[in-house]
Amino acid sequence: MARHLITSAIPYINGIKHLGNLVGSQLPADLYARYLRGRGHEVLFLCATDEHGTPAELAAKKAGKPVAEFCAEMHGVQAEIARGFRLSFDHFGRSSSPQNHTLTQHFAGRLADQGLIREVSESQVYSNADGRFLPDRYIEGTCPNCGYESARGDQCENCTKQLDPTDLIEPRSAISGSTDLEVRETKHLYLMQSGMRGQLNAWIDEKDDWPILTTSIARKWLNDGDGLKDRGITRDLDWGIPVRRGDAPWPGMEGKVFYVWFDAPIEYIACAGEWAEANGLDDAAWERWWRTDKGADDVRYTQFMGKDNVPFHTLSFPATILGSGEPWKLVDYIKSFNYLNYDGGQFSTSKGRGVFMDQALDILPPDYWRWWLLSHAPESSDSEFTWENFQTSVNKDLADVLGNFVSRVTKFCRSKFGEAVPDAGEFGPDEQALIENITTRVRAYEHHMEAMEVRKSAAELRGIWVAGNEYLQSVAPWTTFKTDPDKAAAQIRLALNLVRLYAVLSAPFVPDAAADMLAAMQTEDDSWPDDVPAALNMLKPGHAFTVPEVAFAKITDEQREDWQARFSGVRE
Ligand code: 2FM
Ligand code: ZN
Repeated sequence: MARHLITSAIPYINGIKHLGNLVGSQLPADLYARYLRGRGHEVLFLCATDEHGTPAELAAKKAGKPVAEFCAEMHGVQAEIARGFRLSFDHFGRSSSPQNHTLTQHFAGRLADQGLIREVSESQVYSNADGRFLPDRYIEGTCPNCGYESARGDQCENCTKQLDPTDLIEPRSAISGSTDLEVRETKHLYLMQSGMRGQLNAWIDEKDDWPILTTSIARKWLNDGDGLKDRGITRDLDWGIPVRRGDAPWPGMEGKVFYVWFDAPIEYIACAGEWAEANGLDDAAWERWWRTDKGADDVRYTQFMGKDNVPFHTLSFPATILGSGEPWKLVDYIKSFNYLNYDGGQFSTSKGRGVFMDQALDILPPDYWRWWLLSHAPESSDSEFTWENFQTSVNKDLADVLGNFVSRVTKFCRSKFGEAVPDAGEFGPDEQALIENITTRVRAYEHHMEAMEVRKSAAELRGIWVAGNEYLQSVAPWTTFKTDPDKAAAQIRLALNLVRLYAVLSAPFVPDAAADMLAAMQTEDDSWPDDVPAALNMLKPGHAFTVPEVAFAKITDEQREDWQARFSGVRE
């Protein structure tokens, strides 16, 4: 059995994420982690909150809270929502952890030792009224490109042009509104990644099995003049990881912190340390996942993320790892996603358009969302959430196909044979044909899951559910029972075993329903069906079961219209 390290892009702390964010990283990562655990592999699945940078500081200010307090609270909120969606992280860490402070400073020190950091003196906007520099989003003004009056220092929201704070016309402080600004010289550290183009290109060239989406973005940036330019990795901010050279001060860098995109991916490593600490384990326990000199060379490391995060994971973070000259594990596979749109437009955090993770759980249980999102994952192109499609999918796939199968089989058995697997009868050609069909489909399902083809996996799983329904429909035990009760007993014995098999196969997608199905079958045996015929003969005659509660309620037209109206507008 292999060891699998899995990380999901770590969500910003500044607010609750929408369903598009969820399906772009955390949810497919969870699917994969659950599948691999189900197959008996050792898995370490990590995620965290991304807590530094101007978005965190500004959100805290808006909430009227000290930033550390704000982050601690929001971490709790995000962790609770993650539990609500059944995201099975082994640890949900924080990029502000002491472990990440130490490691980030360590990496910066190593990069400096390797000659990969240079100090650059640059012009930055300073606010006299606020007594501070105004990087990135701390400054607003008129966009020199389109004339939009509330453009931010890093980007114009209206025309999307990337800006530097010094580009803005009539700039003002986003903190105080003050226009008493001046340009001052300040010193920053730059990571000299431009010299690593050859090394990074060679590394990406090896990855011929990666999704095209990942490699095409990586190559575009690698070969674009601007893509791999040396980048500032420090900021004049209070909140963040103080700039130090390992455990020594960095002369001239007092009062500065590392840029959020420098420390965020390092949290993937630090999070393993947090996990070890939380579980009372020593350093060796996490290092065997991350250090190739300490056992991690047989780890397979997979990252999940939205396409906007790909450049940082294919260029900047590998540059940090490779540049350190130390034996840290590099990612083996990057699964990236396009965007999920919402009902004819985009999800928008700033406009509150679309369904946010907390709201989704307020109206329906997690399995409904997990199933729709994963079966419509934006893999080969952007995809779109519409309420009609959601209603159809839930009602057909979950209620009519899976839920109905379980309920029909268990209720029929209870009424004719009692609440135990019936004894009589033999499997005939229909049963053999079904077993063969299911065997072929299970192997195809495994193949798609191994390849992280999320939509294809969902389609195959649905096909497995449908095969059971079609079998039931065609052999019609309720009719057989009238003339040949023994034959009906054999049919139902197979169908009850299918319920258990469905629970095992479906658990990565719909873990709550799967657990309920297993509980109804009164078994804890959730072993993977390596041998499908044996798995379909596992519940022996006489094995007791119960009829489960209705697993999936249908979404009514009224509900659909109500939710459609509720989520089209502005989030309160
Ligand atoms: O896009 C985002 O939400 C970022 N917070 C992702 C960071 S991923 C990583 F590098 F840590
Ligand atoms: Zn603009």
